[in-house]
Order: sequence, then C-alpha cells, then structure tokens
Amino acid sequence: VSTVLGAEPDARVSTEVPFYQPAGRELDVFETAVAAMLPVMLVGPTGCGKTRLIEHFAARLGSRLQVVVGNDDTTTADLVGRYLVHGGDVTWKDGPLTHAVRDGDMCYIDEVVEVRREALAALHPLADDRRRLYLDRLGEVIDAADGFTLVCSYNPARSAGFRELRPAFRQRFVTIALEYLPRELESRVVETEAGVDSRTADYLVRVAIALRDGVGERGGESPSTRMLVYAGRLLARGVDAATAVDACVLGPLANGRDTQIAALKQLVAAVRR
Ligand SMILES: Nc1ncnc2c1ncn2[C@@H]1O[C@H](COP(=O)(O)OP(=O)(O)OP(=O)(O)O)[C@@H](O)[C@H]1O
Ligand SMILES: [Mg+2]
Repeated sequence: VSTVLGAEPDARVSTEVPFYQPAGRELDVFETAVAAMLPVMLVGPTGCGKTRLIEHFAARLGSRLQVVVGNDDTTTADLVGRYLVHGGDVTWKDGPLTHAVRDGDMCYIDEVVEVRREALAALHPLADDRRRLYLDRLGEVIDAADGFTLVCSYNPARSAGFRELRPAFRQRFVTIALEYLPRELESRVVETEAGVDSRTADYLVRVAIALRDGVGERGGESPSTRMLVYAGRLLARGVDAATAVDACVLGPLANGRDTQIAALKQLVAAVRR
C-alpha cells in the first residue's frame, strides 16, 4: 500500500495483505459500513493498530488507497488539488481526495484532528448521503464513484485539550473505537510482528500491562503495542530484555525525565521474565 503525500497522488493496490489481529467485530463493522457506502472513523491511542487495520482492509478488498497524513498545514488544496503554473501554462492537479472520489478508491486521512477546519468542511458533503465533492476553485461538482470510501483516524488522548473535531463532523462517521488488545491477542501481535517466541512476547505484554495499570492515577502515558513490537525486534536480534525494554519502552515514555524513568523501572522489575 503506498503512502501518498501532498499533491502527488499515486494510489497503488497492495499485493500482500498485512497481518491484522482483530480485537472484536471491527473488520465486520468496517466491511459493512463500506458496503453501505458510509464513511468510517477509527479512534484509539497511538500504536494500537489503526493504520494497520486500514492497510489490511484495503489490501484484502484490493482497493487502491490514497493516504493523507494530516498536520496543521493541511489545507483544502492538499486534499482536493490546486492549480499549478508551468511556464505560462496553468493546469489543475487533482489532490488525493479528488483522485479517490473520481476513481472510486479508498481515501484515508490519518490524524484528521490536525487538519484545518476549512479543509474539513470540504469533507462534510462527501461524508453524508450526498457523497459529493465541491471543487469551488474548478467550478466542478463531482459525485463520488461507487467504491469511494472515506476513512479517517485520530488519537483522542492526544487531541484532548488541543483541537477537537466538531460534532457535525464526528457524527457523519461510523466509528470504530480501538484499544490496546487483551494480553493473549497482543502477545500474538508481538510474536508475529517481531519474530520472537510466545514467552518473550508475553513477557513484553506483561511489562506493558504493568505500566498501563494505574496510568490514570500516576499520570503519564500508556506504552503502545508498537513499542512492544520494537522491543521484540531488538530482542530477536540478540539484545537483552532489560536493554530492549529501556530503549524501546521506558525511554520514549519517560520523555527524558530521569525521575520518571526510575519509577517506571521499578514497575518493570516486578514483572517476571
Ligand atoms: N491489531 C494489530 N494487528 C497487527 N499488528 C498490530 C496491531 N496493533 C498494533 N500492531 C503493530 O503495532 C504497530 C503500530 O500500529 P499502527 O501503526 O497501526 O498504530 P496506529 O494506531 O496507527 O498509531 P498512531 O496513532 O500512532 O498512528 C503496527 O505496525 C503493528 O506492528
Ligand atoms: Mg497511524
């Protein structure tokens, strides 16, 4: 699955279906929403499998996937397209969203909460029964081709206190809320993704659970599945467990604060290998 940035859309069909471990019925919900031509929103903490779910799903369906990673510079033009000047010629270039709308592809807007409000407004008529894109600059209105699916995702914890999506936007989406997987399933992910044995994978997951427990009272952040996969990859290459956990889990969580790292290390030390 290709990642498409900015104004160079080049959607491709992935030939390999990336591994995705479901938590529950999310793949069925996703599939049914797509069949019903409804847009989908994925919410969940960092590294819990949102991007992986979409890559898996698009590959399984054989859908082309246009990807936009939202940031606070993402404008309407980054989504729908812009006029380009070549010498004396002015030509219109479709953006990734417009490509997907015309061709009936899947368009995935990652970190949608970062995207500017004015750019999100262009998504409203696309994300309801109209399924229509208004290209004001071009004076064109496009009805989305069959197969067009709008998928957005964001991490609600990160956006808390910063930007919030408006109700009129949020309520247009079939929403799939993901969380870190239960122990056995998360172990399976770490085993598969990192190439470690099941005991090692389970150890890393128990470390994560110890750190996640009580994160509410303690403050700070929960370790993600991604971190465990990274730690597992170092372990699979011969790094010892303590070093791998320090480098891939505690380091990023402590965010450079030594006092924090000491407290986290104590929690990890209590987990039996
Ligand atoms: N359910 C899952 N099935 C398979 N792999 C998973 C799953 N959840 C997490 N992973 C692993 O964790 C990594 C991170 O997942 P992913 O990139 O999908 O997170 P995300 O939710 O998109 O995070 P972010 O909000 O930071 O973008 C994946 O590359 C994969 O190795
Ligand atoms: Mg992601």
